[in-house]
Amino acid sequence: MISQTFAMCISYKVAMINYDVIVLGGGPGGYLAAEHSGQAGLKTLCIEDRHLGGTCLNEGCIPTKTLLQSAKTYAHALRGDLYGVRAEKVTIDRGAVIDRKEKVIHTLVAGVGAALKASRVDLVNGRGVITGRSAEGVTVQVGQELYTGKNLILATGSVNARPPIPGLREALESGFVLTNRELLCQREAPARLAVIGGGVIGLEMAAYCQLTGTEVTVVEMLDHIAGPNDGDLVKVLQKNLERDGMKFHLETKVVAVREGTVVCEKNGQTFELSADKVLLAIGRKANSAGLGLETVGVELERGAVVTDARMKTNAPGIYAVGDVNGKYMLAHTAYREAEVAVNTILGKADTMRYEAIPSVLYTVPELSSVGLSEAEAKAQGRHVSVVKLPMQYSGRYVAENEGGDGICKLVFDAKRNTLLGAQVLANSSSEFIVAAGIFIELELTVDEMREFVFPHPTVCEIFREALSQYKGK
Ligand code: NAI
Repeated sequence: MISQTFAMCISYKVAMINYDVIVLGGGPGGYLAAEHSGQAGLKTLCIEDRHLGGTCLNEGCIPTKTLLQSAKTYAHALRGDLYGVRAEKVTIDRGAVIDRKEKVIHTLVAGVGAALKASRVDLVNGRGVITGRSAEGVTVQVGQELYTGKNLILATGSVNARPPIPGLREALESGFVLTNRELLCQREAPARLAVIGGGVIGLEMAAYCQLTGTEVTVVEMLDHIAGPNDGDLVKVLQKNLERDGMKFHLETKVVAVREGTVVCEKNGQTFELSADKVLLAIGRKANSAGLGLETVGVELERGAVVTDARMKTNAPGIYAVGDVNGKYMLAHTAYREAEVAVNTILGKADTMRYEAIPSVLYTVPELSSVGLSEAEAKAQGRHVSVVKLPMQYSGRYVAENEGGDGICKLVFDAKRNTLLGAQVLANSSSEFIVAAGIFIELELTVDEMREFVFPHPTVCEIFREALSQYKGK
């Protein structure tokens, strides 16, 4: 279905081979850069090897959220009696769930194609490889064709990391071990799923599988799940996931994989975990290999393209946005970096700021954060004051979350009375965490923040309540 969409999108002809801007990659960073560049009147080419929309639209953010919506609807129906609703014989049709996910992807990918067309961007479907420079700019080869760009924006994204775990390669080939790409397409639910890695991908996929009836066990090397998120909230999140039946092995490393078994090691002792399928989610790395970057001398650091705050690499006329620069592997960061890169090409003053980029773990409940956590702020030697509130301070939260034990934490700079960070464990927090990001970006004082009127009743009112409780130091 996706390739048909792509074929539809590329049905118009590439007219010339010299461009003002060539964008390598058609994911969020790439398609947005191409769109802006085309709209600004620059002659623009976008080269995409697989599907427009990249990881985000085809095998990341969007399909995961689509599947989670089905899982949440199912779980809600099963627990309807908490809200006075009794449903009988609630079932989930995995085939229909996957079909809907594909429909959503198809709609959004087609939308990206239409937006690029409307922005007069030429599209080429194929793998672009940089071959060097000519008088016209950087040369990029796709199959037999050669294109030159006065500017080149690298937006090739990231790929799943494959650690040298014995038996892993064979298990990936046999289909016993899956990456998120394959798991998102499974029409048959595994009865038991082992997840290697308790980070974002691991937990979001684990949440979907657990809520739809699979027995999920997460194996995480660190002593906590959810990476650098605030420890107080992570503990409550883990309790919520355990209440749903998810199991965790922390401080446990996967050391080998055999068909039907994951071999784990904890405190020097090994044990075996049986599973029907395994999800590999131990991180992603910049997709920079085999692009011909060495022909134009682009600097890399641990495989990621080094960029400055204007998204420039060390090579003249070459920029890098999104996962390939390894800074923040988030689609929304890529969007903003793409704007900065194109503005820089256009000679407009614009720089990237990373202090208030929200991040969301789409589990149930969601864990959203922006800015510094309490631990990070203390490590920076800031004068920290924290307001931590149970989400029950929001009437809307109580109305909609029977038995909910979410938390909101605001981290302040007590010297300047400004906000440094916010962390919220609550459903729908992804929709309002940006408000805290705006407070941080604008460096508003607590008195200024208190002047804002929040709609009532909303879950977001938790910020108003937390601001009212701030006393400073
Ligand atoms: P991650 O870095 O978030 O988590 C990987 C986890 O695997 C870590 O906690 C690590 O300690 C653990 N680990 C590594 N090797 C292990 C081993 N042998 N045994 C047990 N545990 C092991 O990486 P993840 O989840 O793969 O996500 C990749 C990227 O995708 C992230 O950087 C994230 O930014 C992006 N992403 C973001 C989403 C979001 O914002 N909602 C959703 C999905 C992906």
